Order: sequence, then structure tokens, then C-alpha cells
Amino acid sequence: MAWSARITGTGSAFPSTILRNEDLSRMVDTSNEWIQTRTGILERRIARTGDPEESNSSFGYLAAQQALQMAGKKPEDLNQIIYATCTPDTLLPSTACWLQKKLGAKNAWAVDLNAACSGFVFGLATAHAFIQSGQAKTSLVVGSDLLSAFTNWTDRSSCILFGDGAGAAIVEQADLHHPHCILDTNLRSDGDQWDLFHIVAGGSNQEVTPEAYSQNLHKMQMKGKEMFKSAVRTLSEAALEILKKNKISLKELDWFIPHQAHLRILEAVAERIQLPRDKVLTNLERYGNTTSATVPSVLDENIRNGKIRSGDLILLNVFGAGLTSGSVLMRW
Ligand code: UT7
Repeated sequence: MAWSARITGTGSAFPSTILRNEDLSRMVDTSNEWIQTRTGILERRIARTGDPEESNSSFGYLAAQQALQMAGKKPEDLNQIIYATCTPDTLLPSTACWLQKKLGAKNAWAVDLNAACSGFVFGLATAHAFIQSGQAKTSLVVGSDLLSAFTNWTDRSSCILFGDGAGAAIVEQADLHHPHCILDTNLRSDGDQWDLFHIVAGGSNQEVTPEAYSQNLHKMQMKGKEMFKSAVRTLSEAALEILKKNKISLKELDWFIPHQAHLRILEAVAERIQLPRDKVLTNLERYGNTTSATVPSVLDENIRNGKIRSGDLILLNVFGAGLTSGSVLMRW
């Protein structure tokens, strides 16, 4: 290891169209009260399907521009673009290449990374490894998803949870042991649990035939109860593991930014690891679960509103389809 890697800029962007719980209660058999008490979500943002101004890479672009501006960098400074998404603009080319074109980031190689809701942390860990080894100096990591395009709007147990959005971070090379840097990363996957959250058709396994379409097989399917249990266990384990490895006590931690699945999952994790609720940062009340955008958008929002201050110790903690999970420990 020759270098440290540090986040020097963040950004986030969301569609302007708001879908409130009351709106959902007119679409499926649910109520504002049920959604609020079971999930803590009040509203979410939904992109206009087919509008080129509201594509995945459009929101990634807006978030990336903000991150570049905060970092004082230009698109030409980027060596790599790692685009975490499971809802790409197109299967070919990658959304990372669409973003590279939009930014004019001529000197960057660009690649998509799919770890579902865990994507941003997997992207950050990848950028960290490239920078530590000296193979990159300036990376753009984006977490952006429009899961609304893959939502079964007749399934009340899943359609209430998700929203669209994007978050981004510039990660730069810094001197070894820089005081404000990524301290450690920890990633895990468990393919045995693939069926807890998946999309059957639309990949090379199964075409979206008229029959598959009529059965909504091109939309996500989730085993809610099992996901809930798995999320609480995996998020807690991933958090405790990285803290123990780095000999950091919960008291020393300033902020905990978990994947914004929903409030009851976050509260259960905080209780399980015995972390005070006021150290847990959230934005799910306003945006719901934005898949890979949850963690970078919460990070960005709290850096911009001054809640996160220079020197704060932060734990990013994620969980998603795959199943995937992971953590990043960093000092801002
Ligand atoms: O990034 C992915 C991570 N996402 C997750 O991990 C989400 C995991 N899933 C969950 O957290 C929960 O399964 C939900 C929040 C989605 C559901 O909450 P729950 O308290 O676990 O409800 P349940 O699945 O135990 O269902 C209880 C009842 C059922 O009715 P019956 O069978 O008891 O008559 C459901 O049909 O609630 C019903 N229900 C609803 N009722 C009104 C499920 N969804 C709704 C709804 N509105 N939207």
C-alpha cells in the first residue's frame, strides 16, 4: 500500500415527481398509516420513464457534477468512473459509458458494477483499492438507480418501498495515513440467497416474452419477511466486524449511514449493535429506498447541511440483492 484514498466531493440528485403514500393508496390496497408505521417512508421520487432528461445517467450526471465541483476537479481529471447500478440505461453500452460521454471525461475508463443496493460501497471499495495500489489518482463513484422501472406496481408489499435517485463521490489519492481518508473496507456476497430478491426475465436466462410480461416476470420479486431478517443480521454483522477489526468502539463513531431499506430495519440494527439512534443518518422518509443511491445521497446531504464535520468518523453499511453486504469506515 503506497497511498490512502479520500472522498473529496459528493453530490446527489432526484427526480422532481413526488409519489406520496396517499397516491399509492389509490393504486394498491394500502394506506398512508400502514406505510408510515411499517416503513417510516412518507414519499419517494419517481423518474419519468422514456424521458431522456430523466434517465439513470441523467441523475448520475447531475450528482457527478456536484461532486466534481465540491472536489474542485474537472471531468478530464478523472481516471476511472465506477457506476454502481442494477437498473442501467441500456444493457449495452454501460451506464458508466453514457455518463463518461455526458461528462466529457475523456481520460477515464468507465465500468458498471452491479451489487444492487450495496453497489455504492462496492464501488467505493474498488476505487479505494485502485488508488491504494497507485493505479488511479482520481475516481468517480456513482450509485444511481431507477428501480421504479422494475417495480411491480400491483404488488403492495414491494411497490411502497422504493424510489429513484443518484449519489456520487470523488475519491482521490492522498498521502499514506492521511488523517481524512477511507480507513477500511469489507465486502461480502452470498449467492445461495439469490431468490430473496430477484428479477426472473430480461437477462440472457429468460427473454421478456408476452407471457413473461403478462406475469410481471420482468419486475422485481422480493421475499419481504426473509429479507427483513437477513438485512438486520447482515447489516449488524458487517458493522461490528469492521469496527472490531479496526479496534474502534461505538462511542468513537460519529455517524452511521446504513442502506436506507426502511426505518424498522435501521432501528433494529441500531438496537442490535447498541448504537444511539441519533447517530444514524437517514433520508428514507423523503426518498424511500433508492437502491445504490441511499448511502451516497445521505452522505452528501449531511456534508452539505454541515451535520458531518471535518474529522468525523463515519461507518457506511449496506445490504442488498445477491445477497451482498459490506462496510466502509472513513474519516471525513
Ligand atoms: O434493499 C432491499 C431491502 N428491503 C428490505 O429488506 C425490505 C424487507 N421487507 C420488509 O421489511 C417487510 O416485509 C415489509 C415492510 C415489506 C412488510 O412489512 P411486514 O410488517 O413484514 O408485513 P408482513 O409481510 O408481515 O405482512 C403483514 C400483512 C400481510 O397481510 P396478512 O397476510 O396478514 O393479511 C400483508 O399482506 O400486511 C400486509 N401488507 C400490507 N398491508 C397494507 C403487506 N404490504 C402491505 C401494504 N399495505 N403495503
